[in-house]
Amino acid sequence: MIREFHAVDLQPRNSFGVRQRADRLVEFETVGDLRSVFADGVPERWMVISGGNNVLFTQDYAGLLLTPVSQGIRVLHDDGASVCVRVDAGVEWDDLVAWAVGRDLWGIENLSAIPGKAGAAPVQNIGAYGCEAGRAIERVEMYCVESGAMLTLDRAHCGFGYRDSVFKRELKGRIVITAIELRLSHVPQPHLGYGDVEREVEARGGATLRNIRDAVCAIRRAKLPDPAVMGNAGSFFKNPVVELSVAERLRAEYPDMPCYPSQKEGCVKLAAGWLIDRAGMKGFRTGHVGVHDRQALVLVNTGGATGLEVLELARAVQAKVRDRFGVEIDTEVNIC
Ligand code: EPU
Repeated sequence: MIREFHAVDLQPRNSFGVRQRADRLVEFETVGDLRSVFADGVPERWMVISGGNNVLFTQDYAGLLLTPVSQGIRVLHDDGASVCVRVDAGVEWDDLVAWAVGRDLWGIENLSAIPGKAGAAPVQNIGAYGCEAGRAIERVEMYCVESGAMLTLDRAHCGFGYRDSVFKRELKGRIVITAIELRLSHVPQPHLGYGDVEREVEARGGATLRNIRDAVCAIRRAKLPDPAVMGNAGSFFKNPVVELSVAERLRAEYPDMPCYPSQKEGCVKLAAGWLIDRAGMKGFRTGHVGVHDRQALVLVNTGGATGLEVLELARAVQAKVRDRFGVEIDTEVNIC
């Protein structure tokens, strides 16, 4: 069933809590709903707004926004070692993680407490604590706006990379994700290698699914601001992937600088949070915006900020990091 809104206030629909309007917003459930939305042609401007957790509106949106609200989670098959689960795009990602943990299914527990919906997970290939959604996602179902047909893409064709996928690139503005299929395991496969996870899990009595989920939730709660309390979109910037020679130059000057392996040949990933922190911007406040005081990758709306104020701060942070380290940090959040 469709619910349609006009001149809609986006404040409750974006985690930054910025006050902009959209001409039209349609909440949809089924493929039939999408067909009827596009029956009179494709509007000049449209996009999907899922949970609104990775978007910054800097002006009113003069177009159509589509929000999935379908809620199904269904086991498609179970071979005793693993299960294939089909999840509608409108399911809250963390409800899905809780569902899996509650059924002793491994594969997405490290991705606990990430705000957003299941349909958005493949787009930026959400990741945390050494795991990425793309590792568990087997297939993505989508509606093709140009042809009106349904398509299913296997993982091999999803182009998953660090915070990257084909849905952000070639398929951007052409499809609407309606469901994802995940492969989850009955066999324990804990990934504890990242940061504080192992210590927090041990403190809870060892590597059970429940303990990993609780540990990840506790670590996130301690570092990341709750959007319900202070508007934010999680990491505003991506960790920059730089050539080895750049990292070596910086490492010579800053021996404690974190470096991570990158999937890209001859490159390493730096920690943008560390760079922003060392550039002296952590906890910086101006007007109604700021850099979070416990995680410098996160920009916050301290109350009543406009999207433009956030954007201005983002540009200032990028400039500081460029001046200090000669490194470009790109935004992770979509700016509209
Ligand atoms: N660091 C600092 N100061 C800071 C922030 C970080 O020195 O203010 C240092 C940390 O001490 C650590 C390194 O930078 O040595 C990396 O920090 P952290 O482990 O907190 O992870 P991150 O690289 O800052 C990424 C993801 C997060 C995810 C965490 C944990 C991106 C853009 N961000 O952050 O994802 O939760 O790892 O896996 O990749 C998100 O995408 O919204 C998000 C929160």
